[in-house]
Order: sequence, then structure tokens, then C-alpha cells
Amino acid sequence: MANSKDIYHPSKEVVDYATIKDYDKLYKQSVKNPEKFWADEAKRLDWFKPWDKVLDSSNFPFYKWFVGGKTNIIQNALDRHLTNANRNKLALIWEGEPGDIRTYSYHALSREVCEFANVLKAMGVRKGDIVTIYMPQIPEQIFAMLACAKIGAPHSVIYGGFSHEAIAERVNDAKSRVIVTADGGYRRGKATRLKEIVNRAMEIAPTLEICITVKRTGEEVHMENDRDYWYHDLRSLPIAEKCCCTEEVDAEDPLFILYTSGSTGKPKGLVHTHGGYSVYTSATHRMVFDIKPEDRWWCAADPGWITGHSYMVYGPLINGATIFMYEGAPNHPYPDRWWKMIDKFGINILYTSPTAIRGLMRYGESWVTKHDLSTLRLLGSVGEPINPEAWKWYHRVVGKEKCPIMDTWWQTETGGFVITPLPITPLKPGSATKPFFGHEIAVVDETGSEVGPNEVGALVLKKPFPGMARTIFNEPERYIETYWKKYEEKKWYHAGDSAKKDEDGYFWIIGRSDDVIKVSGYRLGTAEIESAVVSHDSVTEAAAIPLPHELKGNAIYVYAILRDGEKPSKALEREVKDHVGKVMGPIAKPESVSFVDSLPKTRSGKIMRRVLKARALGEDEGDVTTMDD
Ligand code: PRX
Repeated sequence: MANSKDIYHPSKEVVDYATIKDYDKLYKQSVKNPEKFWADEAKRLDWFKPWDKVLDSSNFPFYKWFVGGKTNIIQNALDRHLTNANRNKLALIWEGEPGDIRTYSYHALSREVCEFANVLKAMGVRKGDIVTIYMPQIPEQIFAMLACAKIGAPHSVIYGGFSHEAIAERVNDAKSRVIVTADGGYRRGKATRLKEIVNRAMEIAPTLEICITVKRTGEEVHMENDRDYWYHDLRSLPIAEKCCCTEEVDAEDPLFILYTSGSTGKPKGLVHTHGGYSVYTSATHRMVFDIKPEDRWWCAADPGWITGHSYMVYGPLINGATIFMYEGAPNHPYPDRWWKMIDKFGINILYTSPTAIRGLMRYGESWVTKHDLSTLRLLGSVGEPINPEAWKWYHRVVGKEKCPIMDTWWQTETGGFVITPLPITPLKPGSATKPFFGHEIAVVDETGSEVGPNEVGALVLKKPFPGMARTIFNEPERYIETYWKKYEEKKWYHAGDSAKKDEDGYFWIIGRSDDVIKVSGYRLGTAEIESAVVSHDSVTEAAAIPLPHELKGNAIYVYAILRDGEKPSKALEREVKDHVGKVMGPIAKPESVSFVDSLPKTRSGKIMRRVLKARALGEDEGDVTTMDD
């Protein structure tokens, strides 16, 4: 961990420019009366009908926010901008990997969304139907999401790097009838073949009846009558009218489901709502990045993850910001692609992951310094702890020591930032610093007592907040079990991360304390990886653990027991690795697969991954009294 005395104070210029100048005062007010704080934020937005009650906590842990309020996130993200000065402002600037550029004003974006929404309606999509979206990073990915929201149909976006099995698993849980995809997208100069993957998913996802495909690459794809439609064909028909009324929904109606890995079993479909999520994403985005009308904002995530949902799409659009989006790989065709685009488009804020920073850092400074990055005023980091070397490089080489770094800690579950600096916060490299407004956060032991300064414990959030996922789709019991059971009496949210709080009240996230592995900031469950390994014919049992990796933060190491008669070999190791990559998608491909005769287990048969990890790192195995012989 970094030295907690290593402090970077904001310059006078940064402080002078900042809208919020006194964190402590506003923080105190916000936690004294959080409902007032959130209601004041909600009042900044448009409501078709105002709420009757800010917070209903009668059915813990199923909190409800802005009860009785009628809204739609699209009213705030698009419609209201059409009658104000944002109408002609750029909402979206997009650059494809081959270098093609498309731009949309708020007015143009709204037209695209209306047409898409009318196409979905013509395909029979109604309020409450869950539409699956599996797309490359092209503007239509955003149009499709917003179109769903507009008609009150929750979207379930699946990251474009996932396999057909992963799609089918999510579709089968959500029971989607319609899927939106593209023929492919560009990545490292090659066309990906998304529609082919969707076709395979459709064979094992019986609820899917209709697939709408956007043409991006022009590669040949297999289409079937009465099932497959090109988006450009549909939008040229009279069904794709230019106007589409935004559906009035309840504040608590679902906006989307986003599947994420948990410590056990299948992925969890976290449910976020129109009302609370609108308030939370817009407030956090506006305050933490101090969004000004002239800003060009780049969240270099994929809309397939929560970061993309909250801070590429919804938060920034509600705030009337100009979003930049890029389709492809950061190092294509050269490692200066990002810096070139920041220079070309005059980007003011870059929000990305430590993995991306470490990845670009290894090419050396000259790729960065040959471009003019003087428009940058703030930087951001998310997804995993940022190591101080990467922080300092980002600060010095990219930010020229004048751009504070907003290291934001949050989760798919929280919908938006929870622990984060503001531009005025003195920064400590590697620490996400302090709680956002309205939050009380602690590091506690098993019994819920707060641990001392710099001692490791479990991170808990003590107060409800509007951005929190309301439940796990179809699995309310699992929602209680996973997040609320542990500190049920105190009604605290158990985040699943271990952390420390230092003597200045700064939080230092250490990592997941459960069986979730963060690889390049992506969240994967050991249970999912292990079941993918075991689905290989030669393997009977497996354990997956994370071990530190210079670029990815963590890499996956697998220990597998072979079936009787199978012999370990390099070729088999490669085969098992490729198999996992195919079953789950390339991000889950293990770094190493070792064949072993047995796995350390408790007497009740649970694999002791912690022991495997300690052994691999040459560390003390700790308490092994529960280990079976
Ligand atoms: O372990 C924490 C890590 O990412 C987890 C949440 O992952 P996910 O739901 O995929 O959301 C990622 C984007 C918000 C957390 O439990 N994490 C996220 N941000 C940080 C972080 N760890 C350290 N520092 C962060 N800034």
C-alpha cells in the first residue's frame, strides 16, 4: 500500500474553478439529513408527478425512493434538453476504430432514439418487457439502451466480449423475446463477429424470437426469415416514425437489469430504477467531476458494464454534457490512439481504469507527450485499486501535474460513486479518499465493531441511498443473503470488499473479500470460472484463484484435477485455457492451469482457495485447522 502521508494538494487554479469549495460542511449537512439532501438533488430533475415520500424503509432491505413519483429517465436525459440551450449542443461524438467519425446533437440523438423506440414497439416490445442488447461500441448501442428506457422496457446489456453461453444464460434468466445486436465491430483492426455469436446463443435461448441487427462491418452474416431483421431495413419503413412519446413510469419501475458476477453460482441480475438512479448518477457525476457546460467528457468504458451505463450514458446525458465514445482498442494502430483523440476533440475529462493506464504506461511517455493534452482538467479512475506508480504516471505524464485524479470506488450494486474525492480534495495516490455526500461508511470486524486506523476490515455502507440496486432479478432472497444478512441488525450494506481507513479518514480499498476476481477491472466469479473449467471433458474438479498481475491487477490461476486415465500435458493445459475462454469469453481465459491430484478442502468439502493462494505466493497458510486431511 502507498504511503498515507504522500499527499497531493489541489492547486489554487483548481480550487478557484471548483463549484463545491467546502466538502466538510456539505458532507455534514448531507448526513445529518440525507433525505433532504437527496430530495434537493431530485428537485433539479423533471418529474411528471412529484413524489409523495422521499424514502420508504418499511420493508428493509427493499428500500423505495421518491415513492409515488412519476418520471422517465429519458425525460431528463433527452426530452428536457430539446427545449433548452442544449438542443443544438453535441450530445455524442463518436470515433470508430478505422477512424470514421459521427456526431449527434441532443436533437439528433433524440430523433435516433425515437426511431429506434418505434422500431422496438413495432416488434411488439411493451412496457416491462426485457430487451437484451449485445453490441459493439457504436452509437446504436446507446440508441438502443435509450430507446428501451423511453418505452419503459428494461434493457439487459451484455458486454460484447461475452460468449454465446453467457448470453443465453442471461437471456434465459431475463426471458427476453427481443435481442439487439450488430454484425460486428472493429477491434485491433479486425471485425468481430457478434451476430454469429448471437445466432449460437439463440439456439439455446428459447425465449428469443426476434433479433434486430445493426450493420457495422458489412461482413456476411446468417439471417433467418421471420426472426432476423436488419435495423436499417426496419428504420426505413413507416413504422420508424420520427416522434415517440416518452412513457410515464413509476419512480421505482425498473430501468435496467445488469448481470454481474457474485461469489456463488450464476450471475446476478441487479435491478436499477428510473427515479433513484436518475438522481444518483446525475448528482454524483455533476459534483465529483464538477461538470461545466463547455466540458467534453470521455468515460472510456464499455456501455456493457455499469461504468458505461452510469457515466457514459445516463449521468452525463442528464447533465447535458457532451460525451465522447470510441469503438476500439487503445493501442490501435499505435499506442497513442487515446492521446491523439484527446488532442483532436479537446477532451476535458478522462475517466478510465487502472488496467488501461498500466497498459498504456508500458509504451513509454513519448507516445503521450507528442500530443497536446492541455484541454484536460480532471482525470478519473475506477474498477480496482490503482497502484501508486500508475497513479503518479497518470498524474504527471497525462495530467501534467495539474489535473486531480478522481479515484472513484463503487460497484454495479451501488449504481454510482460512493467513495470518491472532489476536485478540491487533497489526494493520496491509491486511496479513493472519502465518502460521497449522504453516505456513512465504516470498516468493521465480523461483529460489526469498527476496526482501528489502518486495520483491515469489511467495508460497510450504513445509510440507504437512491442509487442502490433494488433487488436481484428473480432472486430477492439472494439479494438479502448476499448484501444484508451479515449486518442485518444494524441494517448495513455489506459491500464484499476489504478495506482500511487511515488516521485522516481516508479509505484504502484492498480488494474483494469474497470469491469474486477482478481481472483488468472486470468482475468474474470463481464459481463461474470453475464450472467452465469442469465443463471440459478431461476435468473433474477445479479451483480458481486470483494472483497479482502487473497489467491486469489480478490474473486467474486454475488448479484442476483430471479424470482417471487423463495425463497432464502442455497441450491439455492450452486446451483447458482455450475452453474457458470460449465458454465465458476471452477476458476469463486463465493465465495458468495446473493439474493437481487433490485440492485443499474444509471437512465440509469447501475448497480453501485462500490456502491455494498463500501457497502460490509462498505465504503463511494461516489457520488450517478446518482443513480435511
Ligand atoms: O472491489 C471493488 C472494485 O470493483 C468492485 C465492483 O466491481 P463492479 O461491480 O464490476 O463495478 C466496477 C465499476 C464501478 C468493487 O467491489 N473497485 C471499483 N472501483 C474501485 C475498486 N477498487 C478500488 N478502487 C476503486 N476505485
